[in-house]
Amino acid sequence: MTQVLRTAAELRALPRESLGFVPTMGALHEGHAALLRRSVQENPRTLLSVFVNPTQFGPAEDFSRYPRTFEADLALAEREKVDYLFAPLPEEIYPPGWRTFIEVEKLQEVLCGKYRPGHFRGVATVVHRLFQLVRPHKAYFGQKDLQQCVVLEKMVADLGLPVSIEICPTVREQDGLALSSRNRYLTAEEREQAPVIYRALLAAQEEKEVSLLLARARAMLAQVPAFELQYLEVRSLPNLEEISRVEGRAAIFVAGYFGKTRLIDNRIFKSA
Ligand code: PAF
Repeated sequence: MTQVLRTAAELRALPRESLGFVPTMGALHEGHAALLRRSVQENPRTLLSVFVNPTQFGPAEDFSRYPRTFEADLALAEREKVDYLFAPLPEEIYPPGWRTFIEVEKLQEVLCGKYRPGHFRGVATVVHRLFQLVRPHKAYFGQKDLQQCVVLEKMVADLGLPVSIEICPTVREQDGLALSSRNRYLTAEEREQAPVIYRALLAAQEEKEVSLLLARARAMLAQVPAFELQYLEVRSLPNLEEISRVEGRAAIFVAGYFGKTRLIDNRIFKSA
C-alpha cells in the first residue's frame, strides 16, 4: 500500500534509508510510471510527490486549468508499488512570507525560458525545496523535459547537493507522440496530427549542418499548419549554447501549440 503524506513533519518521521524520488505535478501517465518503475528497481524505498507548483506558471499560463487527478495518481502509485506519495498543501512548500528563489543563469533564459520567463526559477526553487524536505539519494526526471534536466543538474552541481539526477528516456505513443499530461487537451484531429513533432525531430537526425537540419525539420512541421511553432533550435549539451554544426553532445529542441495546448519535445543526437 502506498502511504499518503501531507506534511514536512510526516516526511521527517520516515526511516532514513536510501530513497528514490520522482517529483511530479500529478496527472500521471505511463511516462511517470516508467520513472517510478526505475526508482522502485534501484532503491529500497520510492517516494512520489504530487504538487502543482504555482511558481513555475506565468500569469497567463494554465495553472488553474492544469489537470488534478489525485485518485487516479494514487491508483497508479499503488500499481507501481510506490512506498510513499507526498501531496503537500502549498503552505507546506512555501510557508507564509516565502522570499527565496533559485536561479540558474543562462540555462534558464533560452529555449522554453525565453517564452516562459520565471518558469525555470520556479522549477529550480520547488525541486530544491522538495530535495530539502525529502532528502532523496536519487531523483528521476524524463528526458522529454531536457532543459529542465539540464537546469537541475547544474543546480545540483553548483550547490553540491547530495542527490544524483537520473534522466530517463522519453516514453512515446506508438506513433511517436511524447507522453505528456497536456496531451489530454488535444482534440481528436490535433491528436492525429501531433506526431508530426516527432517526425520533424527524426527528419533532422542524419544532418550535421545545423541550418540544413533545421530546414528539414521545419519543412516537415510545415506539413501541418495547425501546429504553431514557437521555437525549433539545436543547442549543445549541457551548456545549451547555439552551434552551427553538430559535434559533441547536442540536441534539437522544439516547442509549439495545437490550439491552446503547448507541446514540447527534443532529441539528443546519436553521434553525441
Ligand atoms: O516536470 C514536472 O512535472 C515539474 O516541473 C516538476 C519537476 C515536478 C517541478 O514542479
